Amino acid sequence: MSRKILVTSALPYANGSIHLGHLVEYIQSDIWVRFQKMRGNECHYVCADDTHGTPIMLRAEAEGITPEQLINRVWQEHYDDFTAFHVAFDHYGSTNSTETKELAQGIYRKLKAENLIEVRSIEQFYDPVKNMFLPDRFIKGECPKCHAKDQYGDNCEVCGAAYAPTDLIEPFSAVSGAKPELRNSDHYFFKLSADTCQQFLREWTRSGSLQPEASNKMQEWLGAEGENKLTDWDISRDAPYFGFEIPDAPGKYFYVWLDAPVGYMGSFKQLCAKSGIAFDDYWKQDSDAELYHFIGKDILYFHALFWPAMLQHAGYRTPTKLFAHGFLTVNGEKMSKSRGTFITARSYIDHIKNTEYLRYYYAAKLNGSMEDLDLNLEDFVAKVNSDLIGKYINIASRCAGFISKRFDGKLGDTNSVATAEFQATFNNGEIAHCYEQRDFSRALREIMRLADVANQYIAERKPWDLAKQEGKDAELHEACSTALTLFRDLTLYLKPVLPELAKQVEAFLNIPPLTWDSNWRALPAGHRINTYQHLAVRIDPKLIEAMVAANQESLKPTAPVQSEQRHAAHQQNESKKEMTEANKEFESFISIDDFMKVDLRVAKIVNAEHVEGAEKLLKLTLDIGEEKPRTVFAGIKSAYDPEKLKGRLTVMVANLAPRKMKFGMSEGMVLAASGETPGLFVLSPDEGAQSGMRIK
Ligand code: MSP
Ligand code: ZN
Repeated sequence: MSRKILVTSALPYANGSIHLGHLVEYIQSDIWVRFQKMRGNECHYVCADDTHGTPIMLRAEAEGITPEQLINRVWQEHYDDFTAFHVAFDHYGSTNSTETKELAQGIYRKLKAENLIEVRSIEQFYDPVKNMFLPDRFIKGECPKCHAKDQYGDNCEVCGAAYAPTDLIEPFSAVSGAKPELRNSDHYFFKLSADTCQQFLREWTRSGSLQPEASNKMQEWLGAEGENKLTDWDISRDAPYFGFEIPDAPGKYFYVWLDAPVGYMGSFKQLCAKSGIAFDDYWKQDSDAELYHFIGKDILYFHALFWPAMLQHAGYRTPTKLFAHGFLTVNGEKMSKSRGTFITARSYIDHIKNTEYLRYYYAAKLNGSMEDLDLNLEDFVAKVNSDLIGKYINIASRCAGFISKRFDGKLGDTNSVATAEFQATFNNGEIAHCYEQRDFSRALREIMRLADVANQYIAERKPWDLAKQEGKDAELHEACSTALTLFRDLTLYLKPVLPELAKQVEAFLNIPPLTWDSNWRALPAGHRINTYQHLAVRIDPKLIEAMVAANQESLKPTAPVQSEQRHAAHQQNESKKEMTEANKEFESFISIDDFMKVDLRVAKIVNAEHVEGAEKLLKLTLDIGEEKPRTVFAGIKSAYDPEKLKGRLTVMVANLAPRKMKFGMSEGMVLAASGETPGLFVLSPDEGAQSGMRIK
């Protein structure tokens, strides 16, 4: 009997590009979904962009566009990237939809009716310049524990301490640089501490819906029986916020993580509208449909605690299972811009083109666990070339020509001894079982073992020798027909991983789309196939080198003024959550929107001085019409006497995140020209310009 299955992948944030890390998840879920569909199950696969929250609001503002414009542009980019990697959602929506809004508000109303919403006044940092409350990530300051400067408001990246933003020493707003003030505001809480929630979650997290490692982690978070460690969850944010308004609470918005998972439902609802599926069949409390969420281990907390508790108490079904996966490393290390291993989906497409190579490699490494997964670039080339091309594609390329040239494109009888092992493997369901368990690496090992069997058969029969001998036509015909039948079977097995290649093989073999049909049979004698055309080529390692170099190149310092700051910037970037960041630097053209992100200002150099111990730097004090002048360390010592700089106007980048340097905090960058010939030339505006003027 066919199963009813709804599958989701986590909704990517709408303020960054898809990168190879994300793809671990989307490729993995897509393979699983394709497998389910090939099995004949009714399987729907939805996703959407996660569009709300402060970072997206601020990013749009910095680009000088509306949040809607930003999320529309990014939606298209994401959609195109997924399509290129053959990630085939049945629907790709956006959390900024009426469906998601109504569902989120409906859930909220039910939670409220269940007495699970509470309003409490809390004290929070407020940016008096931007007139907004600041999320923890937008407050920086000195770590109260180890005194490292320039740390975020939630935890220190130097010593690892976790704290409240109010514990920071000399906090400042990362948005405006202003000193934040503590202000009170009413916040809405989902009462997770209520007995009913704790009780329910304790059971749910042990019910087999989580992988064992995840379940253990949740027990830790929940605490021992009676300990009730869960605290209430703050689900509101104050205006200005890009998101959905909370019903009957003017100026209050749902925190992005409240409506994000509801986006799964919203996107599915849109799919239902276009394809006639009954929404309630999948979401009502006693639904017999299966619901699976593929997620990264970093967002387990939201999916294993908040989300099921919301669903349960709002009268919906809860997920059948969460499939959490680990993080991607490249060459054994965290993806890094300076090493050129922070690779966007787009950059991969531009350099390598064939996206199924990556699908194959990821599949060969995925085993359904929460372990991290390493993309070793050398191993990537080796695996694709030796397995995919060497063992699989070569079967067809060595045998197909004889069928066309010698037998008028028609297959002959197949050798049942050679096909027996394939048939046995098919009947025992081993490969299907591996797919079902998301142990794709084991599935591929088994498939490659079968490819070895097929190659062994070809090596024994030697069609190229048979072709040269008189009277061996029948043997040649049988050998090639058998090999192509085995090739067809390997293609069936590989189809969830390599859907595009499988399509080409189906066209070449002139067969209907392969499904996981239990009626295993050989291709019939007399069946006509099409002429073989190249299916795939080996990866040239040079392409990989070029991709890595391209990603690195764009970061090489272009002027000495930038070099020290750039360096500091890298080090910071590497230690940050880089993956949600856009990767615009990789493109050779930028849009006007990109340019507008850079806040260039006329700055007056009110002071310039030498820095003790610094070889290249001068310390500049710059007035750009703000309350407090900025300090900038600029690598222009070789070209300027500080005395001569005092009082003159120049141009500075005002929205560069403040950087801690060896000699202190640098709060921007001044612009200077340099070239092949010696010399370094600081820019100045024409006469009449005033400090603080925007340059655009
Ligand atoms: N918007 C949230 C998810 C909301 S779901 C209701 C989010 N977005 S994300 O863009 O940061 O990440 C999307 C998915 O990609 C997450 O499951 C995340 O774990 C995964 N990955 C992001 N970077 C990754 C790696 N480097 N490696 C593996 N998976 C990674 O989280
Ligand atoms: Zn610290």
